[in-house]
Amino acid sequence: MDRIFSGIQPTGKLHLGNYFGAIQNWVRLQEEYNSVLYSIVDLHALTVPREPAVFRQSILDTTATLLACGINPEKCLLFLQSQVPEHAELGWILGCLTSMPRIQSFPQWKVKNASQNYEGTVGLFTYPVLQAADILLYKSTHVPVGEDQVLHLELARDIAQHFNKKYGNFFPVPKAILSTTKKIKSLRDPTAKMSKSDPQKLGTLNITDSPEEIVLKFRKAVTDFTSEVTYDPDSRPGVSNLVTIHAAVTGLSIKEVVHQCVGLDTAHYKGIVAEAVIQKFAPIRNEIKRLQEDKSHLEKVLQAGAEKAKELASPVYQEIRRLVGFQ
Ligand code: TYM
Repeated sequence: MDRIFSGIQPTGKLHLGNYFGAIQNWVRLQEEYNSVLYSIVDLHALTVPREPAVFRQSILDTTATLLACGINPEKCLLFLQSQVPEHAELGWILGCLTSMPRIQSFPQWKVKNASQNYEGTVGLFTYPVLQAADILLYKSTHVPVGEDQVLHLELARDIAQHFNKKYGNFFPVPKAILSTTKKIKSLRDPTAKMSKSDPQKLGTLNITDSPEEIVLKFRKAVTDFTSEVTYDPDSRPGVSNLVTIHAAVTGLSIKEVVHQCVGLDTAHYKGIVAEAVIQKFAPIRNEIKRLQEDKSHLEKVLQAGAEKAKELASPVYQEIRRLVGFQ
């Protein structure tokens, strides 16, 4: 049976990379598949320091945002990772099957560990193993993610195969479902991906940004000295990122967008893309505000999702316990 699983970190506001790289696909897939699970992965988010009250609020804000974007708990399971303890338990077992060198080169470790005065935690180092556990705990077959998660998914596939070889054919080897939108880049550094942890706040377009913030961020977006609108990510990453965002927001292809923009200069073009983003996200922004006012509804959605997720996880984990010899 096909089963879809994906996760998102509740690290504050969700951005357009999350939306076009993942959430948009998530909404589509809940209509197409019968068994679909989406997890707000709070254990993953704890790999960097968090202030508890802010962290809790981020979890609820992420829940509201996913619901406002169209995630429907009647059609999928939406749940909080830490409410299903088997994720961490399976993470431990899979960690015992994974070599240190295999995960040493992963970007989340290399980038953060290379930054000055940051030693990194054991949790951050083993993060990709926990991600494999998230996926395999439900014997998932398909994982809708953005391009930046492909390496992590390869590890999950390797671990599944390793486990199967050692203990008998048990896990399906999960496949990525990639979004048609290429990686969305930072508006301030179009060679880096748009990210929640970008220290340059003007680089990240959040789903909840006000029209004024959106206009400002586009006005300050880094482009180059050529005024034409063309798509060439290698030699013109800035303007190409604007085209990528424009295509994603309008649903047009890159080619169609570029064709429409013949004769425009980049300054004018930034205003057009900003307006398209404002229009696209205005209803979602309003719905987030409405949902944020009913905290107990958000908590109930997560609670109900966790109960159903546990029902799926528990028999799989019992079988794993038996296979490894715990019982
Ligand atoms: P996270 O929370 O960083 O991102 C959530 C989803 O958004 C996509 N994404 C992007 N796509 C395009 N352009 C971008 N700039 C961009 N930034 C983020 C990501 O590809 C992702 O699909 N490790 C994962 C969370 C996770 C997970 C899992 C995912 C934990 N366990 C199991 C799938 C399956 C992460 O940090 O995603």
